[in-house]
Amino acid sequence: MDKTLMQSAKDNLKNTYAVYSHFKVSAAIRLKDGTIINGVNVENAAYGLSNCAERSALFAAYSRGYKKEDIVEMALTTEQNKIITPCGACRQVMSELVPADTPIVMGDKDGNTKTVKNLELLPFAFTKKDL
Ligand code: THU
Repeated sequence: MDKTLMQSAKDNLKNTYAVYSHFKVSAAIRLKDGTIINGVNVENAAYGLSNCAERSALFAAYSRGYKKEDIVEMALTTEQNKIITPCGACRQVMSELVPADTPIVMGDKDGNTKTVKNLELLPFAFTKKDL
């Protein structure tokens, strides 16, 4: 695991907009060229319009012109003492936008981590091959 990546996710927890759930989530993506892209959860009074940290980070990376093959590692964390795992919607988006064997490092506030390959988060994902 790249400690810098998890540290970047932790440092960026301050930018979460979690005014309804107070559940702050921060994600960071490391790219082949060394760039780190951050994303946080951004909530809305119309709750369903809230965006998770993982998708915020991925959409930010793609918006800057990066592609699937540029992604080397992804980390996420919270202020909770329990390791966070991505929600189902994020797993679906990650299955399309992140390479299958990319390490996904999931952390808690104390620095405990669990790492899995992206593919392990959503076996049997719905993909463009299913269309
Ligand atoms: N959340 C994330 O940002 N990522 C996850 O993987 C799980 C949930 C956010 C969504 C919402 O803003 C808050 O956490 C509580 O569900």
